[in-house]
Amino acid sequence: MWVEQLAHHLPDDTFVTKHAEIDPLDVEFLVHWKHPIERILSYSNMKALVLASAGFDHITAEVRERFPVVRLLDPDMANDIALYCLSWVIHFHRDFDVFAANQRQSHWKKLEMSFPRDYLVGVLGAGQIGSTVMETIRRQGYGCVGWSRSNHDRSQAQFFSDCDVVINLLPNTPHTEGLIGAELLGELGSGVLINVGRGPTVDSAALLAALDGDMRAAVLDVFDVEPLPDTDPLWSHPKVIVTPHVAGRTDPFTASAVVAENIRSIRRGETPAGLVKFG
Ligand code: GLV
Repeated sequence: MWVEQLAHHLPDDTFVTKHAEIDPLDVEFLVHWKHPIERILSYSNMKALVLASAGFDHITAEVRERFPVVRLLDPDMANDIALYCLSWVIHFHRDFDVFAANQRQSHWKKLEMSFPRDYLVGVLGAGQIGSTVMETIRRQGYGCVGWSRSNHDRSQAQFFSDCDVVINLLPNTPHTEGLIGAELLGELGSGVLINVGRGPTVDSAALLAALDGDMRAAVLDVFDVEPLPDTDPLWSHPKVIVTPHVAGRTDPFTASAVVAENIRSIRRGETPAGLVKFG
C-alpha cells in the first residue's frame, strides 16, 4: 500500500519495501516507523529519515546525529486522535461509566449533568495534533484550554486543578518523562486523565495511587512498555481503560501525500514541516 501510494505521488522515483535486496548507498530517503538501526546507519547517502509516525522517541542519538528526521504531521491522523479523545470526553461527561455500573445492578437513576460549556477539558501539548483536538472538542460546545511550555494562561498545577478531563499529548523527552506524577494528579482530584502522548510521561505508580483515591478514571492508549505486559496492574484496575496504541492510526492513503510533500520540500532545499528539533 505504501509503495503504491508513494509511487502515485512521486512517479519518477523508485520505492521498495524493507524486504527488497538493495544497495544501501542507493537509499535517498527512508520512510519508516521502526527499522533496524544498523541498516539505517548503512544508508550513507540518505538525505533524511521521513517518519510514518508522529512520534520520534524511538530515534536513537546516533541516527539523529547523522540524518535529519521529519515526523509525520498528517491532518487525518490528528483528526483520528481528536475523535478518540472526544468520544472519551463525552463518555465521562455524560456519565456513561456510572450508567454502565448502575445497569449491572438494574438500577434506574437519572443524574444531574452539567452542560458541555461547564465541562472543562485540558489539552496538554501544543502543535498540530493539540490544535485539532482542541478545535474538535470546542466545536461540540465544551470548554477547552490548552497548556504548553511556551503557551499557557495559568500554571500547570492550576490547569490540572481546573480541568474535568486532561488529555495528555506530550512526547517522551527528557523534559516530559514522569512529568504527570503525584503532584499534578493530586491537582486533578476527581478528574479523568486521557493519555495519548507517550507512556513514560506519566508516573504509573503515582497514577495507580491516585486511582485508588479520588481520581475518576484513566484512559490509556500508550504505556512504558508496549504491548502492556500481562502482569501489569493497569490491565485490571477498575478505573483504567486500556486501548492498544490505536488512538491515532497512520493511514497510508493520506499519510503518503504528506510524506511525498516532505520529500519534495527537502529536494527543493526547504525545511519540511515536521522537521524534528531534538533537545
Ligand atoms: C503513534 O503513536 C505515532 O507516533 O504516530
